[in-house]
Amino acid sequence: NRITRQQPQTSRTVDEITGGRRLRRMRKAGWSRRLVQENHLRVEDLIWPIFLIEGENRQEGVAAMPGVSRYSVDLAVKQAERAARLGIPAIATFPNIPLSRRDARGSAILDADNLINRASRAIKEAVPDLGIITDGALDPFTSHGHDGILKDGIVVNDETVEQIAQAAVLQAAAGADIIAPSDMMDGRIGAIRDALDAAGFQDVAIMSYATKFASAFYGPYREAIGTDGLLKGDKKTYYIDPANSDEALREAEQDLAEGADMLMVKPGLPYLDIVYRIKEAFGVPTYAYQVSGEYAMIKAAAANGWIDGELAMMESLLAFKRAGCDGILTYFAPEVAQRLHGSRT
Ligand code: PBG
Repeated sequence: NRITRQQPQTSRTVDEITGGRRLRRMRKAGWSRRLVQENHLRVEDLIWPIFLIEGENRQEGVAAMPGVSRYSVDLAVKQAERAARLGIPAIATFPNIPLSRRDARGSAILDADNLINRASRAIKEAVPDLGIITDGALDPFTSHGHDGILKDGIVVNDETVEQIAQAAVLQAAAGADIIAPSDMMDGRIGAIRDALDAAGFQDVAIMSYATKFASAFYGPYREAIGTDGLLKGDKKTYYIDPANSDEALREAEQDLAEGADMLMVKPGLPYLDIVYRIKEAFGVPTYAYQVSGEYAMIKAAAANGWIDGELAMMESLLAFKRAGCDGILTYFAPEVAQRLHGSRT
């Protein structure tokens, strides 16, 4: 038995199929691809998250985040100067607080001289034109690693909000330009706005972590700020279920109504549909956080020679722009900025 090949009855040419429309035409050369490029990654799109530790002249690597370190305040100032030189508009600071200063209520967030506030003061003085974003969440300060005050195993909302609002005022007084609460308590945006206004900080903006999902991609961050061994249970009672996007839109709408100036989606790449929907729905300044686990995945695969790390970094960040982001919080910021400058000459 021989297999016989059947010829199709009619066979159209490609021009007949496409009607002469050939999308490859503009892809044929570098110059034509550049001419039709719709989205661009710029240094101005970058926000750099930086980790802080106590001490002087101290720099510690974060094992799960190759290339990322925790810096004592004096060295954080140097990094801030570097960010400014590179043209990065803003940094976001995250403290690794000594265990001895963490407690069940996260009280140290109300210390005007805590690590976050000392860093803001020093950075503002050295680099006044660099934007400083600080977090109002309690997790770096609590002995249990939760973002709020824990009572009988429950993260209590209203008491936490009150504390976060007070902390925001201290952060603004220390030099923070944008308060970015990452805790997802109900009502915190309005409470922070009220507290800032009452204290005379009408010009301090709020970037809401409006849609923060209960994600597995935060792992390396918890190593960086030292909550990895502390956290009991998970954060599902306050972060959004990764299965939900209508709920994410309701969160964003609520935070805008309460006075958020900017919205953020977190994590980033796995949640670009949320970015797209939020930007479409509200048309407000919209950001995404390419979180620690996303960074670690790219670095790990690149270290193994499985992907080209630089290309994957650039492509991942461009994808945020395509989805509608006005900017991206990314640990790649200085590396990307350097690369973008290099390609300009
Ligand atoms: C908590 C907080 C998290 C991150 C920043 N602040 C998440 C968490 O620990 O649950 C994650 C940032 C990252 O993964 O890069 N308020």
